[in-house]
Amino acid sequence: MPESRCRKRIGTMASTAVSAPQTSYTLPAKFYHWTTAVLIAAMFVTIWLRGFMESKSPAQAFWTNAHTSLGILVFGLTLVRLLSRPHAPESGESAFAEFLRTAMHRTLLVVTLLLPISGFVRMSARNRVTDFFGYAIASPFGDAPSIYAIGRALHGDAMQYVVLALIGLHVVAALGHHYVLKDDTLRRMV
Ligand code: HEM
Ligand code: HEM
Repeated sequence: MPESRCRKRIGTMASTAVSAPQTSYTLPAKFYHWTTAVLIAAMFVTIWLRGFMESKSPAQAFWTNAHTSLGILVFGLTLVRLLSRPHAPESGESAFAEFLRTAMHRTLLVVTLLLPISGFVRMSARNRVTDFFGYAIASPFGDAPSIYAIGRALHGDAMQYVVLALIGLHVVAALGHHYVLKDDTLRRMV
């Protein structure tokens, strides 16, 4: 190995050996996590407010557009989050607890990606234009009742309860770690 490359490798090994273990999530990880959490809450609020508006009124269109725009933002944010995903800090827990933790986080990430996709399918399979902060996205499906049925099944009533149950479990676990087990799990994310 040339001398310069050899020195470079030794330098890397030395810096790895002295670096302290990661004890907290990085700033970008915290940013993605809490921004997504706020946006997911906004998704429920927008669709709830939409329900109070008169059918086909400008106010109803406003809340539909807010829902689709923020939902697409969640999708983009999650893609960036996955692509730049930093390692989670070491938890020091048993292998089983680590498995449960990872499984829950992966499920939440998959759900966060599937929700906007199924929402877009539900929206556009009826040949509707989807709004993204004023930018109109044409339907790639046209009027497609069978595709709409899939969108509606994945992005309908039942989905709400599954998503709320998963998030509820996640939040209870985080609070349980903090108040019952009194460990650093919650502190690593704030
Ligand atoms: C994380 C993202 C999202 C969440 C958590 C979410 C959540 C919800 C919820 C809870 C409902 C009510 C379901 C029902 O009662 O049947 C709903 C409806 C709907 N969502 Fe989303 N959504 C998301 C993203 C999107 C996106 C990106 C779009 C479109 C591009 C979209 C389009 C729709 C449509 C068209 C409806 C039905 C509205 C109606 O006609 O009543 N959603 N969404
Ligand atoms: C008040 C609400 C929330 C609290 C208190 C909370 C708390 C936490 C905590 C403490 C961690 C670190 C856990 C660990 O390292 O073992 C974490 C990680 C995580 N949370 Fe949440 N969370 C909330 C909402 C959400 C929501 C709404 C989602 C997504 C739908 C979500 C998705 C995730 C994911 C994917 C991770 C893994 C780390 C990452 O990839 O960013 N959380 N959460």
